[in-house]
Amino acid sequence: MSPWTAAEPGRHAGTGVWRIDLARAEADLARCAEALSPDERARMARYLRPEDRARFAASHAALRLILGRALGRDPRAIAFVLAPGGRPELAGAGLSFNLSHSGQRALVALSTEAPVGVDVETLRPLPDALRIARGHFAPDETASLARLDGPAREAAFFALWTRKEAVVKALGAGLALPLTRFSVSLPPGPPRLLRLDVPGAPSTWTLHHLEPGPGTVGALAAAAPVSDLTCRALPPDWPDLLP
Ligand SMILES: CC(C)(COP(=O)(O)OP(=O)(O)OC[C@H]1O[C@@H](n2cnc3c(N)ncnc32)[C@H](O)[C@@H]1OP(=O)(O)O)[C@@H](O)C(=O)NCCC(=O)NCCS
Repeated sequence: MSPWTAAEPGRHAGTGVWRIDLARAEADLARCAEALSPDERARMARYLRPEDRARFAASHAALRLILGRALGRDPRAIAFVLAPGGRPELAGAGLSFNLSHSGQRALVALSTEAPVGVDVETLRPLPDALRIARGHFAPDETASLARLDGPAREAAFFALWTRKEAVVKALGAGLALPLTRFSVSLPPGPPRLLRLDVPGAPSTWTLHHLEPGPGTVGALAAAAPVSDLTCRALPPDWPDLLP
């Protein structure tokens, strides 16, 4: 996986992923909230916990900033449409994107080449990883997980989870797609889609394992062969780039 290079967002062809630090001071969060649409501000206000409101404001403002720079538009003027499975998309922009947030981290995937999905998870102890896997994942994935032990099993579980979630998000299917309908590889091997039993879905995929910082793991899925993945990080003072 490539290192994360600090960069200002701009117009980039190909497929890339942006890493965003969501730990922001109050003044930054106020600025982030101003960049949101009225609908987004209403959604933000429905979160009961201040940390959830903050994560929503910062991740959605960063998404608008990245998309605005990619399209040469004011971030506040970006209009989203919801695809049938609930996936937010841009109409007619020739650009696929996807957002994921967990704890103080967000990732935004962008591609001019293929529909993309991205997922980030915060690593945590998970002694019942195998039980959860048996309840949700495909039998071949669960069998691979059962061959591992202790910390290796927990690390593999989160890698597997993010790979599967990234595929589901690239398809836009949301929770409607049973996770047993497809299989992905586990670490330490390269991430690959091994099987996909979804009528009409693309057959050739590119998966990337992501390490977005200590205590987190992620994955990006592209529903086509794509060029090399570029990993960029928004600069620490990124809210200053908002209009
Ligand atoms: C909503 C879902 C797409 C992802 O949820 P999540 O992992 O909790 O959250 P993430 O932070 O990764 O992604 C959320 C973002 O994805 C985007 N999104 C929402 N619906 C989407 C869909 N159908 N397809 C793709 N992206 C979607 C939105 O930008 C959303 O941000 P918002 O909630 O702040 O508006 C859905 O797939 C889900 O809930 N999956 C959980 C399924 C599961 O059980 N997974 C276990 C391991 S595989």
